[in-house]
Amino acid sequence: MYREICSKYAPDKDNLICILHEIQNSHPQHYISEEAVQTVAEYLGVPANHIYGVLTFYTMYSTKPRGQNIIRLCESPPCYIKGSENILHKLMTLLDIEVGETTKDGCFTLELCACLGVCGNAPVMMINNDVYGDLTEEKVEEIIEKVRRG
Ligand code: FES
Repeated sequence: MYREICSKYAPDKDNLICILHEIQNSHPQHYISEEAVQTVAEYLGVPANHIYGVLTFYTMYSTKPRGQNIIRLCESPPCYIKGSENILHKLMTLLDIEVGETTKDGCFTLELCACLGVCGNAPVMMINNDVYGDLTEEKVEEIIEKVRRG
């Protein structure tokens, strides 16, 4: 599967980000495994350490299996001022996990991120590709319930 994804791109290290992105998106647990790193390293002719460097630099990548839905709560100052800390506590209580963890049922992973570019609606979070703004504790509860129901 990883080799198949790689072969959609020219074996040029400029394509590394696109390849990693596609590998992560196509994995049901939204992460990049050691096997995937080795495959990409061989395909592009770069050391695996170089790829791990990229994976740790960009917070959007994970080398650990994650849940079906990835929650990214913005922790940048405008969101913080508008109460992202309370939203974080609400999420941790609702999901019974800490930041970086996945719920026991594999439904949610909770992460923090930098500005999502919609500070006018602070506090903001993303769940997968959907952005939710003007969050309140009540709103968060409704959103989580809705996503859980699918
Ligand atoms: S600071 Fe949170 S979206 Fe910009």
